[in-house]
Amino acid sequence: MTQRSCLSVILAAGEGTRMKSALPKVLHPIAGLPMLGHVTAVARAAGAGDLAIVVGHGAEKVAEAAKDFAPGSENFLQEKRLGTANAVLAARDAIARGYDDVLVMFGDTPLLSQSAIDDVRAKLADGAAVVVMGFRTDNPTGYGRLIEKGGALVAIREEKDASPEERRIAFCNGGIMGIAGDKALGLLDAVGNTNAKGEFYLTDIVSIATERGLAVVATEASFEDALGINNRVELSQAEAIWQWRRRRQVMLDGVTMIAPDTVTFAHDTKIAQDVIVEPNVFFGPGVTIETGATIRANSHLEGAKVGANCEVGPYARLRPGADLKEKAKVGNFVEIKKAEIGPGAKVPHLSYVGDAFIGAKANLGAGTITCNYDGYSKFVTDVGAGAFVGSNSSLVAPVKIGRDAYVASGSTITDDVPDDALAFGRARQTTIPGRAKELREKRAAAKK
Ligand code: UD1
Ligand code: CA
Repeated sequence: MTQRSCLSVILAAGEGTRMKSALPKVLHPIAGLPMLGHVTAVARAAGAGDLAIVVGHGAEKVAEAAKDFAPGSENFLQEKRLGTANAVLAARDAIARGYDDVLVMFGDTPLLSQSAIDDVRAKLADGAAVVVMGFRTDNPTGYGRLIEKGGALVAIREEKDASPEERRIAFCNGGIMGIAGDKALGLLDAVGNTNAKGEFYLTDIVSIATERGLAVVATEASFEDALGINNRVELSQAEAIWQWRRRRQVMLDGVTMIAPDTVTFAHDTKIAQDVIVEPNVFFGPGVTIETGATIRANSHLEGAKVGANCEVGPYARLRPGADLKEKAKVGNFVEIKKAEIGPGAKVPHLSYVGDAFIGAKANLGAGTITCNYDGYSKFVTDVGAGAFVGSNSSLVAPVKIGRDAYVASGSTITDDVPDDALAFGRARQTTIPGRAKELREKRAAAKK
């Protein structure tokens, strides 16, 4: 990896009106992470030590969200949408600090790969003043066309300014540009706005640099690298491409998926070797699955840890703070929230377990519910190791069930149960011999 210093300027000022959304375009998620977060992550991975995000529309929301996914980034406000060169110049103070490489990126190209940026930076390291990440497409409408003369890139022509012959060029500007840091402000300040849109085009620095005798080159990236998101159809296409890349990688890393196209990952899902994932499983952000675990069909996991050799589902819901220790079992129609399920403990059917500690090898019978909320506060349920809670029991928190204690089925437990104790929390059964027959005869007679 190059030791050259690098600033990434990411343009994220656009309105994105075609998203039809109250959320700024660059905050729409792919795999649970705002697309801008994908761009900042790849910029960092490619060696950008500093990130300058140019905000405009929805500036506060974007800046606030960026604190999470791009800590340490700086925000610069573009007051008016005067074009991409003007947007880059909003980050003038950052550029003026002096970097070897300045990378201009767009906040709405979430599938950009590190290798595409590496290629751009390699050309800068070779001495180019301007490097354009190009790509080829059969449908170039809307993109800036790369105009080459004698093998050299001499200009970029925007769609609206292009002649009919130029519009037939299939080699397009993918939006990412590398500029030698010591030339950047000189080139950007020379850009004018005499074009069809009356905007200051970043792309004009190509012809300006050429006129100044500086080296200008294009790299060639994939269509995905350049894929810009303008509406929710494109958003879903990017999501689909992202998901397939991740599924493929996960399988190559040793995970079995029976129907991979029905499994949805988040950007940060961690999943170890020899995990089996059955069909229709959704991973929200913050999930870790350790080796040998099986995630059965139709389960939804978010912010959860699943230990080695655990079994989850089918139809399980693990919410944030669910922490399953080794060999724990969470079965069908069970919801776990902010609860530790100890090693080998079982919650096999129809339960809600929230704000709880379930000890090693404890067993919560079908329909066990932790009553953790009184409408104002949350309370903790603590079930000791080896305890056995009979089916259809309500554990009214705060409450503690001791080690190896036994709770009778159908109990409502409001008081702590000591270690090794047996607790009944229900009315005694009354049985009246013959009474059913009497009742039937009485009712039949009344009906006549
Ligand atoms: C731009 C390129 C075009 C390239 C295409 C790739 C220019 C002049 N054209 O065209 O050559 O093929 O991207 O997708 O650069 N933005 C601002 N402030 C502005 C203007 C734009 O922040 O004043 C941001 C937008 O939010 C967007 C990005 O810059 O993220 C690109 O702007 P956009 O108007 O979409 O440019 P394109 O016409 O797509
Ligand atoms: Ca665009």
